[in-house]
Amino acid sequence: MSRLWHWSRRCSLIFSRHNSTLSSRLSSITDADALHFAKILSSPTSVLSTLPSISTPPEELDIYNNDWMGKYRGKATTVLKPKTTQEVSEIVKWCNDRRIGIVPQGGNTGLVGGSVPLRDEVILSLSNMTQVRSFDPVSGILVADAGCILQSLTDYVAPHNHIMPLDLGAKGSCQIGGNVSTNAGGLRLLRYGSLHGSVLGLEVVLPDGTILDQLNTLRKDNTGYDLKQLFIGAEGTLGIITGVSILTPPAPQASNNVILALPRFENVLPLYKTVKRQLSEILSAFEFIDRTAYDLAVKHGQGRALSEEEVEGAECFVLVETSGGRREHDEEKLNDLLESLLEADEPLINTGVLAQNPAQFSSLWALREGVTEAVSKEGKAYKYDISVPLSTFKECVDRTREQLRSKGLLNEDQVKAVIGYGHVGDGNLHLNVIAKAYTPEIQNALEPFVYELVASHRGSVSAEHGIGAMKTHALHYSKDETSIAWMRKIKAIFDPNGIMNPGKVLE
Ligand code: FAD
Ligand code: MLT
Ligand code: ZN
Repeated sequence: MSRLWHWSRRCSLIFSRHNSTLSSRLSSITDADALHFAKILSSPTSVLSTLPSISTPPEELDIYNNDWMGKYRGKATTVLKPKTTQEVSEIVKWCNDRRIGIVPQGGNTGLVGGSVPLRDEVILSLSNMTQVRSFDPVSGILVADAGCILQSLTDYVAPHNHIMPLDLGAKGSCQIGGNVSTNAGGLRLLRYGSLHGSVLGLEVVLPDGTILDQLNTLRKDNTGYDLKQLFIGAEGTLGIITGVSILTPPAPQASNNVILALPRFENVLPLYKTVKRQLSEILSAFEFIDRTAYDLAVKHGQGRALSEEEVEGAECFVLVETSGGRREHDEEKLNDLLESLLEADEPLINTGVLAQNPAQFSSLWALREGVTEAVSKEGKAYKYDISVPLSTFKECVDRTREQLRSKGLLNEDQVKAVIGYGHVGDGNLHLNVIAKAYTPEIQNALEPFVYELVASHRGSVSAEHGIGAMKTHALHYSKDETSIAWMRKIKAIFDPNGIMNPGKVLE
């Protein structure tokens, strides 16, 4: 990082254990079904099926049947790629009549096994629905097909000086429909809030094939129950989102970022308070990476590392981003912040490195965004995406590591590392256990241990990734019986035949 401005103190099993508890009330897809789908879909390339009438080579279905982590594997014989909402509706109606399970699939970047079948359900991929329907540059309201890739929407609104209200490492592959279905949080939640606020309307194909048109473009609409909220975060269990209306914020005129090296985790909280107070309206992200996560990101070439001298003695790192209206004003605030941090009698940080140009800005972000990629290069990840009080982030990581050590599992051949990173501003810790392979021993050492730990802090077992297939058995750690009973009632109203993403969210 030679051209960065260096501020330094010195110079200043797949063993989803509930796998396939799908009831036998669901039917497998037959050759006749595949032929019917080929008839309703406008293009022959919209049906991939290993059944004899279509006979797609099985390898072509692999990318749809396997999840991003290589942890969950489905056995779908058929993938459908409709191009219009009407086609989605006809497929769903047929599946409902025939009791065929459907797994809606966006970019297949989900991290909880929600986007691949548990058995041989049909996969309905939204990847052929990629049209922007409208954009109003005055209000910033964008209406798009659910299959639009997040990055392509970012590129679409950029010339109009707008940005998408969410940003995540998977932006090059994930789709806006998948983002809404998982209620994805990401790196900008601190500034722009959750999708429950920025999504203004949805078009959804319900499990009987009815098209629910709630594609509003109104900022305000208080006409009774806000049904769209039910589909935000429903992970495809209540219907298929085909269109999204979303409020895009104006692009900041200036963005900057700085990475701070901290001698002790205990400094994170006071640092967050100080940063919030000093940067106030220009603070747009406050992200945390522990030392092991940082070292992994560097090892696997994500972003550019700080010098040895800069990381010496650092227990963890914080990445602060600012987004504001005037570069000089924002830089002055950031510089003042760094100066005051470094000149304090008992400094909270060892070092701060401020990006000086767009390339350095991206390079610093890559250190944080690249952790997910680095983890997947290092081994097989058990990913716990939890909400716990900020003060307990380190305790959660340390106690999990200790639990694995006490079971004799912490070694190069079993668990290689336990790391913590995440969105401090949102109280969201990503606790990742990186193993050589997924094994029942590691799984049993981690669960219910981690969930009980979360519950002891009155936390959530899923801050942003969702429940999917991974955590159906753990829902009760964060939701009481009454809430789960009402979730079941809602599921039964929308999907009485249980065809929509069966075995996900609810057992
Ligand atoms: P998929 O993975 O295809 O599907 C996810 C779920 O939504 C499934 O249950 C699926 O059935 C359902 N679904 C998909 N599309 C539809 C639809 N149109 N209608 C109904 N249901 C549908 N998540 C975060 O919250 N924050 C992050 O910062 C973040 N960073 C990530 C970084 C990386 C590198 C990776 C690989 C993942 C990350 N994720 C993150 C997780 C994931 O990217 C998000 O959950 C994303 O929103 C999923 O979108 P997708 O299109 O890939 O959906
Ligand atoms: C992140 O914050 O990097 C994502 O949620 C992905 C992950 O947890 O690895
Ligand atoms: Zn995250």
